[in-house]
Amino acid sequence: MARVSFDQVRKVYGDDTVAVQDLSLEIPDGELIVLVGPSGCGKTTALRMVAGLEVITEGEIRIGDRVVNGLPPRDRDVAMVFQNYALYPHKTVYENLSFPLKLRKLSRRDIDDRVRRIARVLELEEQLPRKPGQLSGGQRQRVAMGRAMIREPYAYLMDEPLSNLDAKLRTQMRAEIGLLHKELGVTTIYVTHDQVEAMTLGERVAVMRRGELQQVAAPQELYNRPANLFVAGFIGSPAMNFFLGRVSEEADGIWVSFGDGQRLEVDEHERSLAPALSGMDGKGLIVGVRPEHLQDAALVSGAPANRRLKGLVKLRELLGSEVVVHFEVQAAPVVTDAVLEIAEDVDESALSELDHRRQERRTHFVGRFGVDSPSKDGETAEIAVAAGALRFFDLESGARLAA
Ligand SMILES: Nc1ncnc2c1ncn2[C@@H]1O[C@H](COP(=O)(O)OP(=O)(O)OP(=O)(O)O)[C@@H](O)[C@H]1O
Ligand SMILES: [Mg+2]
Repeated sequence: MARVSFDQVRKVYGDDTVAVQDLSLEIPDGELIVLVGPSGCGKTTALRMVAGLEVITEGEIRIGDRVVNGLPPRDRDVAMVFQNYALYPHKTVYENLSFPLKLRKLSRRDIDDRVRRIARVLELEEQLPRKPGQLSGGQRQRVAMGRAMIREPYAYLMDEPLSNLDAKLRTQMRAEIGLLHKELGVTTIYVTHDQVEAMTLGERVAVMRRGELQQVAAPQELYNRPANLFVAGFIGSPAMNFFLGRVSEEADGIWVSFGDGQRLEVDEHERSLAPALSGMDGKGLIVGVRPEHLQDAALVSGAPANRRLKGLVKLRELLGSEVVVHFEVQAAPVVTDAVLEIAEDVDESALSELDHRRQERRTHFVGRFGVDSPSKDGETAEIAVAAGALRFFDLESGARLAA
């Protein structure tokens, strides 16, 4: 086991595809860190450079105290699990699992102990005598994981190892990886584009965009204090709502106004997170609020008048435990590069819809309301904004206003 570090690492493919830019990241010994970001942001490239499968254009990568830039993959002693795994088709599961240990000349007894232990953890005991062709996709994936994890290398590198699995198996395997990590404590770099996977699995999460590291932090920190619009929009599902607002400093406090004369008072916690708000009287900014911090005001006893907004309900999705309400607020929507990129990641129609709303100054909001919400399609609802929930971002840079 060892720490892994990136020091100003850059990767250029061919003449001009910059896949990773100036990446500096220190992963302490034994940590499970998740690299997350949209397709093409450079996650796989970062991982392959650690494994030695890509040449590093500039900078240094260390495993332990060794600079590994010039070291061939087999001398780096890292174990990899990729989405497209390959098993030996003519060997049984037992032989597939034991193969990496045989190469290392362990005793038969030790090998048997370890194979049975990993098979137990991954629920593959009954499959041990079978060949890969006789297994389901999920079982094959578990064998591939098991084969990587059976050794105790310096680090595990995992590139979307669960993406071939169905939703249920995926959740289960995710928990297993977490448990296995706790048990073995091997430094792990886990790549995914799924932010839920990132948040549940990572001790820390590194968010990347277009080859650049945006923020590295514990999941809760990313959620509460995103460094910028991109991270704020990427982490959390459904995504944070954004709209354009204007600051007004009044005798009784700081407010943000938007659309057709609506306004919200900024509370003490929000001001302490964004002290720069005082001094911004009359200036525009981007306001963000998460769906789980919006509630039908009818369900909040004594919802204060200074923390409400009005929205036209468009769609209600009843989920049993809550109702996800889509509504429209008369406010200018935020259309930045980061928002476009997230929309693009969703699909094409999300893009044209965004454009349409911009012309009409309508912002689509999502709220997670209690199931007893009396809100109805086509009617206006009063929505309460939770204390401390507003976040503010710079119009130009998209950086969160922070202390
Ligand atoms: N062998 C290659 N030659 C040229 N360009 C490449 C090569 N591999 C990757 N790229 C480019 O480098 C960038 C980063 O790719 P990478 O595979 O690291 O992204 P990723 O974050 O893993 O994406 P995904 O979530 O789709 O797997 C992309 O623009 C990609 O097109
Ligand atoms: Mg990839």
